[in-house]
Amino acid sequence: MSDPDNRMVSPEADAEDQRDSTVRPLTLSEFVGQGAVKENLKVFVDAARQRAEAMDHVLFYGPPGLGKTTLAQIVSRELGVGFRATSGPVIAKAGDLAALLTNLQPRDVLFIDEIHRLSPAVEEILYPAMEDFQLDLIIGEGPAARSVRIDLPPFTLVAATTRAGLITTPLRERFGIPLHMNFYTEDELTFIVERAARVLSMDMTEDGAREVARRSRGTPRVANRLLRRVRDFASIFGSGPIDAAAADSALLRLDVDKRGLDAMDRRYLGCIAENYGGGPVGAETLAAALGNERDVLEEVVEPFLIQQGLVQRTPRGRMLTRQGWSYIGLEMPAPMAAQLDLLQKAAPTGDEDA
Ligand SMILES: Nc1ncnc2c1ncn2[C@@H]1O[C@H](COP(=O)(O)OP(=O)(O)OP(=O)(O)O)[C@@H](O)[C@H]1O
Ligand SMILES: [Mg+2]
Repeated sequence: MSDPDNRMVSPEADAEDQRDSTVRPLTLSEFVGQGAVKENLKVFVDAARQRAEAMDHVLFYGPPGLGKTTLAQIVSRELGVGFRATSGPVIAKAGDLAALLTNLQPRDVLFIDEIHRLSPAVEEILYPAMEDFQLDLIIGEGPAARSVRIDLPPFTLVAATTRAGLITTPLRERFGIPLHMNFYTEDELTFIVERAARVLSMDMTEDGAREVARRSRGTPRVANRLLRRVRDFASIFGSGPIDAAAADSALLRLDVDKRGLDAMDRRYLGCIAENYGGGPVGAETLAAALGNERDVLEEVVEPFLIQQGLVQRTPRGRMLTRQGWSYIGLEMPAPMAAQLDLLQKAAPTGDEDA
């Protein structure tokens, strides 16, 4: 259970998710939700096409599983240009990036996932490439070293990150189009589940789809995964279409509760309440108490709990909110309530990554 990679509701991709490309939307109009992001992209894509220019560089940031990679592919398809994909940790040396960049066709999309994990040396190469479509390379070492400048075809860098806060300011400022991805609404996810069910030839009612959507933590990747598991249960135990009751019983067996929280989430909330009196408790301390990596807590567990208003990130650490206390069935101690009210006035969101 403390292995977060095996959670039913983890927003991070597992091997099965990656294989399952059948339900991935291919065009902007097929892509449900993220209204503002989509509208903006449409304008920039149309304008770039009209002028036959490379579109400005795009940065998608937001929690895992919300469709950043999907949108990057859609952008290149809508632009009618080639798509090359890589990721921050894969580009080890400046030369690796140089090889990628010099192989691009004019106006191509280069997608760099996890851009916050680029090494500083590689980032240096990226600046002039993004700004002036030029590559400054040092060839050789010592006194014989010389620098060469290579012209690149104009291209569009589409980058994605789950950790906008870790991107250096000079890099962030070179993206003309920064786009923030938000959790999906229940209606949007219901639509996504219904569509995926059709693609998978499943017989599912609207309220069945809604039941899966409601428990998917605002995340299409989770919705698709829960749907596949519900399908498994239905094909073994079920008869007739999958309705809300069938979805509910399958999801309860998978330990995904009414709001999409699992044992890991409940342990997290319970730990703050019982070990730290509701907080504030620092991320490092909490991670140690739960036997998890701090990064996993911050990227995978907390965003949804914060978005649900169960936990608050404050400058002094994590605190359970009133809702968080009531969710685990405990009464919030009165001094905490007063402290929380004060903090809420001082820092309305407490979201460091926004
Ligand atoms: N708007 C959407 N409509 C339908 N399906 C979607 C949508 N957005 C994402 N998906 C599905 O959710 C899954 C995850 O999407 P994607 O891989 O693009 O997420 P991501 O934001 O890149 O995640 P990560 O941060 O882990 O890289 C994909 O299988 C995709 O099919
Ligand atoms: Mg991705």
